[in-house]
Amino acid sequence: MKISAVKGFRDVLPEESARWSWIEATARELLARYDYGELRIPIAERSTLFSRSIGETSDIVEKEMYTFDDRDGTQLSLRPEGTASVVRAYVEHSIQVKEPVSKLFYIGPMFRRERPQKGRYRQFHQIGWEVIGRDDPAIDAEVITLVDDLLARLGVRTARFQLNSLGDGTCRPVYREALTVWGRAHLSELCDNCRRRLEQNPLRLLDCKEEGCRAATASAPAMADYLCAPCRAHFDDVRAILEGEGINFVVDPRLVRGLDYYCRTAFEIVAEGLGSQNAVGGGGRYDGLVKAAGGPDVGGVGVALGLERLAMVAGDTPLQPGLEIFIAPLGRDADLTAARLGRELRSQGARVEVESGSRSLKSHMRRADKLGAHYVLILGEQELGRRAASVRDMVAKLDFQCAIPLDAEPEKFLATLRQLAVEASSQTA
Ligand code: HAM
Repeated sequence: MKISAVKGFRDVLPEESARWSWIEATARELLARYDYGELRIPIAERSTLFSRSIGETSDIVEKEMYTFDDRDGTQLSLRPEGTASVVRAYVEHSIQVKEPVSKLFYIGPMFRRERPQKGRYRQFHQIGWEVIGRDDPAIDAEVITLVDDLLARLGVRTARFQLNSLGDGTCRPVYREALTVWGRAHLSELCDNCRRRLEQNPLRLLDCKEEGCRAATASAPAMADYLCAPCRAHFDDVRAILEGEGINFVVDPRLVRGLDYYCRTAFEIVAEGLGSQNAVGGGGRYDGLVKAAGGPDVGGVGVALGLERLAMVAGDTPLQPGLEIFIAPLGRDADLTAARLGRELRSQGARVEVESGSRSLKSHMRRADKLGAHYVLILGEQELGRRAASVRDMVAKLDFQCAIPLDAEPEKFLATLRQLAVEASSQTA
């Protein structure tokens, strides 16, 4: 019986992989310019790491984690996101002793058991970065500017940032209480889910997608009116820097994010072309998370972008160099020479395909054409006899006897081959 991939888990075939590699390479290059170092975090962690940091009442922890018992009884979960692991690693390795500010990035798969749809998978991939050890508004703005730079390099033209401040340990409890009181008075207008969440996590009322809840919460108290003076000043500064940098953002008072560790700045990046899953990334500040994980009392801020969604909205993948040389041995006797020549030419940087000597010349040519090879090197009995290959230039559509001995230095062989092709095509031009 045929076994297919698990629902929400998918294969990334070479063409799409090439696109991902381009996106990843662009991100790595830019992250290095901003002085980030890569942290490779494990795929699985103790489940409590996620429930404590993301929040017991978040959708992710309540119903989306892949959790299982290890053979020794430890409860583990596949990571649903990267921030909790970065913070754990930061504390575990006492990174604060080595450096006052850490800038760390990660790239890799994450797992959430959501309902799969376009742009939403159960295994998906993130590129994320975190700054731990700074709590000033300039670093929040820098994290966002880096997203903007990356999107520009990837040719994403429709991105927009949505920004909010979620307050801190001083002002958020007051706001939370006000929202709960409001919710109790409007219970009949809320959906079942919001009614259930009201006492535990009232902020989530604000991003409920139900029409009724959206209409009702339009009159709910807004966090902006409850921010304490330091939070207000922080948010004002973040916005002023972003305005100065020319970043395209709007303040969205409903933005609360689905993870509970945020405080102060929270943001999402939306782009056209993603359908209903329009967030290409999200992030924010999480002061208090490092301390709660047993580390020093330092602030943190970061973001993660979905690779699948970036691939949907980015511009064209730059063309990769195609196949340069197709070696076509005729007869099994030519296989060894073909293999040796192929290996030598590859060592000189050429992209080379070596076929089996059991195929006919006709089938070699058909396949070389399909692969888009520039040159076909034919190694038949005659060629082996005189130790020189026949060449077909598939681009110039020319045949010529390669004057280069098969036993020549590979570097010389390749240079002469390319030179012959240049001369041949200029003769026909
Ligand atoms: P998040 O908003 O949960 O934040 O996820 C960030 C991005 O990951 C989303 O905007 C989306 O592009 C992508 N993503 C999330 N779930 C899926 C899915 N099921 N399928 C496809 N793509 C998905 C976080 O994960 C935080 N850790 C971000 C952060 C870093 N905050 C501070 N530092």
